Amino acid sequence: MNSLAWLRYFEANRRNFIEPDWSAPMPLSGGLRAHLASSLSHFQLGESGGGSHLFAQAARQTEEDAPYVGALELFVAEEGEHARLLQNLVARFGGRLITRHWTHLLFRTARRALGLNFEIQVLLIAELVGTAYYRVLQRRVRDPILDQVCERILADEAQHVAFHLDHLRDIHAGLLPVERAAWSLQFQLLFSAALRVAWLDHRAALRATGSKRAEFFADARGECIRFLDSLTAREAHEILFSGEATR
Ligand SMILES: [Fe+2]
Ligand SMILES: [Fe+2]
Repeated sequence: MNSLAWLRYFEANRRNFIEPDWSAPMPLSGGLRAHLASSLSHFQLGESGGGSHLFAQAARQTEEDAPYVGALELFVAEEGEHARLLQNLVARFGGRLITRHWTHLLFRTARRALGLNFEIQVLLIAELVGTAYYRVLQRRVRDPILDQVCERILADEAQHVAFHLDHLRDIHAGLLPVERAAWSLQFQLLFSAALRVAWLDHRAALRATGSKRAEFFADARGECIRFLDSLTAREAHEILFSGEATR
């Protein structure tokens, strides 16, 4: 993994943003606004947080790969920026922020259950499910400010997935095929559980936008399949490439 390249990416990405016009006219009905405010407040809580546990784990387990720890810090700061954008959206839709929720507690407990790689995996699953959520909102809701925020978050989350993918590729390079299969199975089970929890939590808002369970699930499953394909495609490429090199 080229940690330095990721550190430079996150540094550059901080400067690349135009602040939405939060006072722009509101085109949405009161009912939809209330559903969105409540749902977004849960995501706002999920996107906030300091990451000190993650940094400590990373410093211990990556043999002091300082650029990786630096990139992780900027990644968490970027999630904090998402939390700030969501906070403004919640206010725009007339809602209130929350400071605790059972899904957040579940997420935090899962993150800290095992070591660094498991924590990265839990974060990655949240990125995949979150991507589906923001994509449905962007497709279904006609508010230019929500659209602008979703655009920004979706662009960042795509890079976050690539960042975690890079980290996990290094781990996978040292696994036997049967260990990779076991990892893939547990990943898919955890992803499926997280997707169901997200639907339970956000179904009222998603339904209020006109979306259905099948749409949200298809988007999220597509993200998961693309991620797993990228992980194995690169491995296949590397095997092929090293085979050619030794011929
Ligand atoms: Fe985020
Ligand atoms: Fe993210």
